[in-house]
Amino acid sequence: MSYAIVGFGKIGQALAHAFARNNINVTVASRRPPEALALQARAVGPTVVAKSLRDALEADTIILAIPFGEHSEVAKALPSWKGKTVIDAMNSFPLPPEELDGLPSSTFIAKSFTGAKVVKGFNHLGAATLASDPVVEGGHRVIFLSSDDEDAIAPVADLAKRLGFAPVTLGKLNEGGLLVHARGRVWGPLIFQDLFKKQQ
Ligand SMILES: NC(=O)c1ccc[n+]([C@@H]2O[C@H](COP(=O)([O-])OP(=O)(O)OC[C@H]3O[C@@H](n4cnc5c(N)ncnc54)[C@H](OP(=O)(O)O)[C@@H]3O)[C@@H](O)[C@H]2O)c1
Repeated sequence: MSYAIVGFGKIGQALAHAFARNNINVTVASRRPPEALALQARAVGPTVVAKSLRDALEADTIILAIPFGEHSEVAKALPSWKGKTVIDAMNSFPLPPEELDGLPSSTFIAKSFTGAKVVKGFNHLGAATLASDPVVEGGHRVIFLSSDDEDAIAPVADLAKRLGFAPVTLGKLNEGGLLVHARGRVWGPLIFQDLFKKQQ
C-alpha cells in the first residue's frame, strides 16, 4: 500500500507527522512545486517526501487535506480514479450546506473522483491535536471512518491503527457518517434532528 497526502498545510502536516512518527512512507504534494515543500517535508521526518501533485497521485491511497472548494481541481489531475482509495479529511466549511445538493460532503466530492473508493476520516480533530501523539495515557485517540464502499474501510482502519489511532467505523456516509459530517460549523447533533424528522 502506498500513501500520499494532498495539501501540506495544517492538516497535511499534522498527518505527515503521524506517518513520520510511525516510520511509514508518505508522499506530500500541494499546488507548489516539490522543491518548495522539500525542506519542510524533510523536517517532519525521513519517511515524508515531497513530490509533484501528478507524481503523488500514483499512490494507492490519497488523503485529501485541502480546502473543500479545491477538491475538483485535484480530481481533474487524474483521468481515472479507478483502483484508488481517497480519504476525505476535509470539512465543507465555509461552503453553505445548501450548496452540497443535500448530500453528505464526502458523497458530494465522490461525484468528482469517479471510480475511487471514498472514505471519510481524520476530519474531526483540530490540526494541533491530530499532529500530537494519539497514544494518550495508555489509550488511543479515536478516528471515525465512514464509507459507502464496505470493503474500503478495513485498509483505512488498518492505516489508522498503524498511525496509533483507534478507528471507529460509523457505516455509510448518509447513516453513521452524518455524525462527522460538518454542516457549516455545526456537527453531529443534526443527525438526531434528521432521525427525529424521519420518525415523524
Ligand atoms: N485546520 C484544522 O484544524 C482542520 C481540522 C479538520 C479538518 N480540516 C479540513 O482540512 C482541510 C485542510 O485544512 P488546513 O487547515 O490544513 O488548510 P491549510 O492550512 O490552508 O492548507 C491547505 C493546503 O491545501 C493545499 N492546496 C490548496 N489547493 C490545492 C490544490 N488545488 N491542489 C493541491 N493542493 C492544494 C495548499 O497548498 P498551497 O500551499 O500550495 O496553496 C495547502 O498546502 C480543509 O478541508 C479543512 O476543512 C481542517
